[in-house]
Amino acid sequence: MIRLFGYRSSLSLIVWSLVGVALIVCFFSIVHQSDTRQSRIYFRHPSATRELEEIEEEHFRLPPPHKANPRAVKRRGPHRSPNVIDQYLEESSEIHALFFPDERTAVNPTKVGNDSMYFYPGRVWLDTDGHIIQAHGGGIMYDHITAKYYWYGENKDGPTYQAHPKGTHRVDIIGINCYSSKDLWSWTNEGIVLPGEPTNVTHDLHKSKVLERPKVIYNDRTGQYVMWMHIDDANYTKASLGVAVSSSPTGPFSYLYSFRPHGFQSRDMTIFKDDDGAAYLFYSSRDNTELHVSRLTKDYLNITAAMRRILIRRHREAPAVFKLERTYYMITSGCSGWAPNKALTHAADSIMGPWKTLGNPCVGGNRFFRLTTFLSQSTFVLPLSGLPGTFIFMADRWNPSNLRDSRYVWLPLFVGGLTDEPLNNSFGSPLWSRVSIYWHRKWRLPEDWKKGYV
Ligand SMILES: *[C@@H]1O[C@H](CO)[C@@H](O)[C@H](O)[C@H]1NC(C)=O
Ligand SMILES: *[C@@H]1O[C@H](CO)[C@@H](O)[C@H](O)[C@H]1NC(C)=O
Ligand SMILES: *[C@@H]1O[C@H](CO)[C@@H](O)[C@H](O)[C@H]1NC(C)=O
Ligand SMILES: *[C@@H]1O[C@H](CO)[C@@H](O)[C@H](O)[C@H]1NC(C)=O
Ligand SMILES: *[C@@H]1O[C@H](CO)[C@@H](O)[C@H](O)[C@H]1NC(C)=O
Repeated sequence: MIRLFGYRSSLSLIVWSLVGVALIVCFFSIVHQSDTRQSRIYFRHPSATRELEEIEEEHFRLPPPHKANPRAVKRRGPHRSPNVIDQYLEESSEIHALFFPDERTAVNPTKVGNDSMYFYPGRVWLDTDGHIIQAHGGGIMYDHITAKYYWYGENKDGPTYQAHPKGTHRVDIIGINCYSSKDLWSWTNEGIVLPGEPTNVTHDLHKSKVLERPKVIYNDRTGQYVMWMHIDDANYTKASLGVAVSSSPTGPFSYLYSFRPHGFQSRDMTIFKDDDGAAYLFYSSRDNTELHVSRLTKDYLNITAAMRRILIRRHREAPAVFKLERTYYMITSGCSGWAPNKALTHAADSIMGPWKTLGNPCVGGNRFFRLTTFLSQSTFVLPLSGLPGTFIFMADRWNPSNLRDSRYVWLPLFVGGLTDEPLNNSFGSPLWSRVSIYWHRKWRLPEDWKKGYV
């Protein structure tokens, strides 16, 4: 009995010691993991960006809601009273005026004063000729050959109308505009680099159709600038991708063709060029219920066979993809037409997925702002080469009743802030840094943002 007990106890001693060793190993690996995470979190933070990482609150008093108009209630159904967003979208409302300040406050590079180089999210923004910048749903490419940035976006400088009573608000296709800059603040109009088609009604770019979210990347092998875009008809039933090329960043781009990737619908989309020269396409598919990611061919003119479905049943659109060290990040919006909604950040170790959702990146402002992405929708995230971990978040503040007056919301985005909610699956799977977009009423780029490019 005693011997047997002794045998048993030494056996259990061994078992427990093994468990103990395993726990210690596990503990150290977690400590090690969180150490690398800490070092990831704090590797950057030069004092240059400290000011931009301060939380800035915004206090505005929203006017009291209008009395519900019985017709509107009928239209919206009994369960929805007209909310602040509905009012904000009406051009004549007080709330609207608060977020679409008139041209007197325009950001104006032709007027040199103590405001120069400051970004004012939501204000009218003029180019170096003093004209309003028309580059909606856009993206920016840095061109090493000319050492300039090029901003491509939709020219929406036409009347807004509905093609039929239930149709979405639209502007006829005018074309894709390009602006160039060395400082990201004063932009020179390079003109329409891909024009709409005025007469041929069967052409993809006929003015009655839809041309959105142009993105351009440079192909080092072919020396061509390649533009990808969303091509649709007025009812958004074509749901296709378009491709155009040019030998110059300022065009003209020749339109090649449109197609449905792997036979799937494609609406909001973006492309991302990785450090190794491989480029990828992201698009909202299957009635915007999910995103698909696919690698482009080496010439960037087509997609390869491999495709992954990501964020399935999440209903996300307006993807903007960026990378820091070896982690890929993406900001997306929800799907609520022209109305703003809450952004989410996603991250992945491999660009083809799996992608995990981290949460809402918006910091500061107030709750209303954070739940509406500062009343805007993501379109692009631009890395600042001199400040690793620092990016510009570019978004559109849409004005659906007068789309040409839609505004730009550019804000600093940082990778590396602390997470505000515990991330799921921290055991065994990667611990990603928090992505934060900081609200600022006015802000400018810190010193050294350009290092490494010039
Ligand atoms: C400079 O700033 C002051 C105070 O902020 C302002 O009153 C003044 O009009 C500004 N001057 C110019 C030229 O913008
Ligand atoms: C109109 O556009 C279609 C599609 O791009 C093209 O096939 C056709 O040749 C064009 N017609 C004319 C007259 O240019
Ligand atoms: C769009 O839908 C409306 C209503 O269903 C229809 O009348 C119109 O012909 C459609 N337009 C196009 C371009 O498909
Ligand atoms: C793109 O690739 C697919 C699959 O290889 C092919 O069927 C299609 O013709 C290609 N498109 C173009 C425009 O080359
Ligand atoms: C983490 O998991 C919980 C429960 O499974 C879920 O409610 C929460 O939204 C998740 N958080 C994130 C950031 O995905």
